Amino acid sequence: MSGVAFSRPFFGPEEEEAAAAAVRSHWVVGGPQLRALEEGFAALGGAAHGVGVSSWTTGAFLLLKALGIGPGDEVIVPSLTFIASVNVIVHAGATPVFAEIDPRTYNIDPDAIAALITPRTKAILPVDQIGLPCEIDRIAAIGERHGLLVIQDAACSVGARFRGRPIGGLAVASVFSLHARKLVTTGEGGMILTNDADLAARLRRQRHQGMSLSDFERHGAAPTVFESYPEIGYNFRITDVQAAIGVAQLQRLPQALALRQAVAERYSAALSAHRWLEPPHVPAHVTPNWQSYQVRLRAGARLTRNGLMDALHAQGIPTRRGVMASHLEAPYRATAPALPQTERAAAECLLLPMHPGLDDAGVAAVLTAIDRAFAGA
Ligand SMILES: Cc1ncc(COP(=O)(O)O)c(C=O)c1O
Repeated sequence: MSGVAFSRPFFGPEEEEAAAAAVRSHWVVGGPQLRALEEGFAALGGAAHGVGVSSWTTGAFLLLKALGIGPGDEVIVPSLTFIASVNVIVHAGATPVFAEIDPRTYNIDPDAIAALITPRTKAILPVDQIGLPCEIDRIAAIGERHGLLVIQDAACSVGARFRGRPIGGLAVASVFSLHARKLVTTGEGGMILTNDADLAARLRRQRHQGMSLSDFERHGAAPTVFESYPEIGYNFRITDVQAAIGVAQLQRLPQALALRQAVAERYSAALSAHRWLEPPHVPAHVTPNWQSYQVRLRAGARLTRNGLMDALHAQGIPTRRGVMASHLEAPYRATAPALPQTERAAAECLLLPMHPGLDDAGVAAVLTAIDRAFAGA
């Protein structure tokens, strides 16, 4: 086996010590680490408020509910995304309406959105797929023109930039995932960024059973204060042990971004003129965080996507299929329209190993295995 890992969290003694310190403090939920993570994330994303939650999925669900999106409403979303982006619309009781992608970036095609707008459309949920920001300015303009809410699925895009600006304050709200494949991870977790103070306060209450006061406020209060429960909420909390790890991860994000960028540059230099593989296209006005490195089989390639994945696996190189087409999965298949660009991308793309610990020898091993796979085909 090559010893090359597909993906690995960028953990070191900093995260170990942060988690241990949170445990030693005995304040393991709703405490100072949560506040530090929320403030750090908001500062990084150029947004006024951060709300930490247990996952992207629970955060996006809370957000849709808080924005009043539910039964009878339609939400425009790309199909080419992790299915969570679509499922959450259904969780909220609304209907996902699938939009086609731009085949060069694999992100939602802003030109495809207008034709999908109906009197029932309430929101657009564009995705920064695998860490490459979507065309948020154009999408926000469409939202404004038609009176639609724009919620950015930034699950993958912490640290990425759009026209020089960080991701986080460019929509009504942006939701990030802190899952293990993400650049800032707490194992599981999520973060909502918004500039709307009322929305942030509502989301904070809602993640904590609708409670009027946070744990932080109750513990710090003198004399004793009593909370109330003005509305029905949920338990979508993230722990302070997780948050402490997240704070350490945020501090090391610049290093993680630089290491990933170096891996991407090595791959792209080797693959830019490759006969059978197309490296990712990065528009000049966006800076991806390289959460994943996705390549596509060129027309006429002597291997299918699955054949190439098998040939790499046989040489000890782990890969994953590229981003999925959600509309082809059983819950959505019956009512989904044909989306030829999405379907082609889902069939022809794969993800190569990508993480900050992937050294030059690792990248070379992947590239050699690709050459051997095509030579043997
Ligand atoms: C684009 C996208 N949206 C949503 C999610 C769901 O995130 P979580 O697992 O934190 O709920 C993911 C997770 O990979 C994702 O890639």
